[in-house]
Amino acid sequence: MDNPPELDGRVAVVTGGTRGVGAGIVRAFLRAGAEVVVCARRPPNAPVEVAGRKAEFVPVNLRDGDAVRAFFARVATDYGRLDALVNNAGGTPYRPLSAADANRHARVLELNLTAPLIASLAAYEVMTTRQGPEGAGPEGAGGSITMIGSVSGSRPSPGTAAYGAAKAGLEHLARSMAVEWAPAVRVNTLVLGMVRTELSHLHYGDEEGVAAVGRTVPLGRLAEPEEIGEAAVFLASDRAAYISGASLLVHGGGERPAFLDAANADRTDGADRNGGADRNGRADRNGRNGETDREK
Ligand SMILES: NC(=O)c1ccc[n+]([C@@H]2O[C@H](COP(=O)([O-])OP(=O)(O)OC[C@H]3O[C@@H](n4cnc5c(N)ncnc54)[C@H](OP(=O)(O)O)[C@@H]3O)[C@@H](O)[C@H]2O)c1
Repeated sequence: MDNPPELDGRVAVVTGGTRGVGAGIVRAFLRAGAEVVVCARRPPNAPVEVAGRKAEFVPVNLRDGDAVRAFFARVATDYGRLDALVNNAGGTPYRPLSAADANRHARVLELNLTAPLIASLAAYEVMTTRQGPEGAGPEGAGGSITMIGSVSGSRPSPGTAAYGAAKAGLEHLARSMAVEWAPAVRVNTLVLGMVRTELSHLHYGDEEGVAAVGRTVPLGRLAEPEEIGEAAVFLASDRAAYISGASLLVHGGGERPAFLDAANADRTDGADRNGGADRNGRADRNGRNGETDREK
């Protein structure tokens, strides 16, 4: 995907930009011309780069508020500005609620909700205090913050309940920030479905498992990290100048309701009322909220 270098001269921070979704976001920002700084606890296995342009890596544990504030102060000193923050770092182990004590669940909330709040507060300060030439005061100060949310934040999230709650909170936080920090800083959320990363096999198994899981998505596959990056670049760009407080679903069409595959109503008499067969060739059971849709 070739973007025009619309972020030339801009500076972006991507948390957790060393692998997976974050590395895809970093590559998209580099391709768009931005200078990119990534933070995570450990360096990437190989530098994240595009055509010889590399992201700078700074080790930071996002659960350490002082370290996060020091990191953004360093970005301000080294780059003199910050235009975009993508709060990407996050995740959770699979852990049913009763399988762990409250402290374990609280750590998931900390990484997925508190850490993006702390990072956003620090980023806001840098974004809004940029000095113009010769110390003439703030000039063109402002920026864009993008939260990386999940569909787990808007439907039950069994086995990852604290994660789902945190992602729901994150999206809500973005909406409040968008109001409080307008017009200087726009704040939005990308709500992700499943993305194919180096760690997909841990969740879905081998290639066959990943492909089978992909077929449950209307678009027939998992997203690639750089497709998330494209959406993140868009939200950070001037093309999205009037978009704030928004949530953009990047989930390939979402999740097909499970009840549709379980229902055994005979549909032969009305099967085509919603437009024919679904992508698997089955008679269409879409819509009507589970009504049998036979005789009215
Ligand atoms: N993959 C998916 O299917 C999917 C679906 C929906 C939403 N998402 C969201 O997308 C984001 C990225 O997911 P992913 O699958 O790419 O995850 P991932 O492969 O586990 O990468 C997570 C990144 O965050 C960093 N990180 C984790 N804990 C950290 C901490 N305490 N301090 C600093 N950095 C930390 C990791 O580096 P270190 O471990 O070295 O610190 C790594 O760079 C997450 O917010 C996730 O919730 C992913």
